[in-house]
Amino acid sequence: MCGIFGYVGHDRNAADLVLRGLKKLEYRGYDSWGVAVGHRDQVVLEKRTGKIGDAVPDLPASAIGIGHTRWATHGGVTEHNAHPHLDCAGRLALIHNGIVSNYRELREPLVRSGHRFRSETDTEVVAHLIEECLAATPAGPEQLVTATMTAFRRLRGLNAIAVADVRTRQIAAAKSGSPLVLGWSDHGHLLASDFSALLEHTRRVTFVEDRQAVLLSRERCRVFDADTGRELTPAITEVEWEAAATELSGYPDYMTKEIHEQPAVLRRLAEAGGEHARRLAAMIRDAGDVFVIGCGTASHAALAAQYLLARIAGRRVTVASASEFPYLGDFVGEGALVVALSQSGETIDVIDAVRAARQRGARIAAMVNVEGSTLWRLADLTVPLGAGPERCVLATKSFTAKLAILLLTAYELADEAAAAATLIERAADEIERLLADDRRDLIRHVAEAIHTREHLFVIGRGPSYPLALEAALKVKEVSYIHAEGFAGGDLKHGVIALIEPGTPCLVLAPRDETYDDIMAGAMQVKARGAMLIGVSPEPHEAFDYHIPVADLGPATAILNAPPAQLLGYYLALLRGHDPDKPRNLAKSVTVK
Ligand code: F6R
Repeated sequence: MCGIFGYVGHDRNAADLVLRGLKKLEYRGYDSWGVAVGHRDQVVLEKRTGKIGDAVPDLPASAIGIGHTRWATHGGVTEHNAHPHLDCAGRLALIHNGIVSNYRELREPLVRSGHRFRSETDTEVVAHLIEECLAATPAGPEQLVTATMTAFRRLRGLNAIAVADVRTRQIAAAKSGSPLVLGWSDHGHLLASDFSALLEHTRRVTFVEDRQAVLLSRERCRVFDADTGRELTPAITEVEWEAAATELSGYPDYMTKEIHEQPAVLRRLAEAGGEHARRLAAMIRDAGDVFVIGCGTASHAALAAQYLLARIAGRRVTVASASEFPYLGDFVGEGALVVALSQSGETIDVIDAVRAARQRGARIAAMVNVEGSTLWRLADLTVPLGAGPERCVLATKSFTAKLAILLLTAYELADEAAAAATLIERAADEIERLLADDRRDLIRHVAEAIHTREHLFVIGRGPSYPLALEAALKVKEVSYIHAEGFAGGDLKHGVIALIEPGTPCLVLAPRDETYDDIMAGAMQVKARGAMLIGVSPEPHEAFDYHIPVADLGPATAILNAPPAQLLGYYLALLRGHDPDKPRNLAKSVTVK
């Protein structure tokens, strides 16, 4: 959560450059933002609440700047609490991602020695702490980074901090837990929470490791061990994503763009995902216990893995939400394999679970989208999702990409790899048709019919059960309609009490062995007045609306995702919400 961006170089338009970077990071948090630049050895600051939108900074020309987009943890959404935060002298501007868990005990002595605090945040304490450390550090080219490391060593929690000293025209940063990437460009040095924000300047990056510190100036970029102060040789990587992939390219928003990118992503995986699936299948074959974990949408993909691997390959795996996984830790040990699913590769609950499992002797495989992310670097085997940048806060193409790789892996385990690639190509064709033909209008029409309702239920059985959970999540997070997904068989064990005349119920009814039973459940809610929206190859007289999807056997799960993505999208528009940035959410959940 929170995006941080910094620049020092030759371009005197630092404020614009930083704000452009922040816009790319806004998916990490968007309740307020701020930019600071140096002018005549003083920090000049602009902070605002709300999304960045079309804001143009009103700041003087400067070749050094830092900025922040916030997802509030400590202190309400106000301009005072927005970052950057300053020291007392107005020489330092500080931005932060994470939580300083001991901020209270650090703050008291600072207040006693006269530091003036202007916000309620845990962050501001770091600005004043660095100010103190700076005063106690001998002057010289490394004074700022030395003071920053001294202060950083006193922080508890998982944090990334960056501080600009506008007098020396340097930026120092340090991290533990939260991501930080350096960019090496022709016109200067940059840092950001995510390398995709750097792509318009450079593809040459350094992923800062935990407990490292960095010092950026116009001329140099140096990396240090934050605990010993020893200078390290930075490892520079060339990332593959293109800057253009982060643009809207004519789509009205990222959600639409990313829904429409699914066929291309699936085709790429059908063609080139086989080798990764082979490696993952080999690891699963060699492992004792296999655990599949993820959070949110990724946990639904993990649940889908359980069905796909069991039904196609006869392989039993244990599935857990990554945030609950540590409590099952006793079962993880030598010989176990943890398969972690994550779009961002930065979700703290996933990272923590993986680290704990590794300490117990487990091997780690990761299905991850963001190149070079923490999970990507941690895993023994990384399976790239290859979905390209996903900017909308809702996961769409990364979800169907995970399903495709899981399908490839399950068929690989069953020694039928070629069958999976064909199915995925067919799924790509089907989704392309769905997005182009009159089913799109039909889904919009369904959204119009239900957009004023308070509740929506989704039911699915067997392999469609994880899809029911995912469909409900898509609808609720973007439309704010209360939506719940259920295993079809569970409906009459309580939930049916909530069905009233007109309550919309989405029924996932593929033509498989779940069909008769799911339709029986659907009829029971219909008998109590529910409005049925069938997602099925078969029409049925009980459906008030029928969204036809093809029958692709085990790959039907992939086809069942886009209708709910579109439904959520249209509901959001009809209810006047921004589909890319739903309230209270952030795409990369890097705090507990
Ligand atoms: C829902 C959504 C979230 C993420 C979850 C995990 O649309 O995007 O539920 O799936 O926060 O994120 P990653 O996959 O980055 O670990």
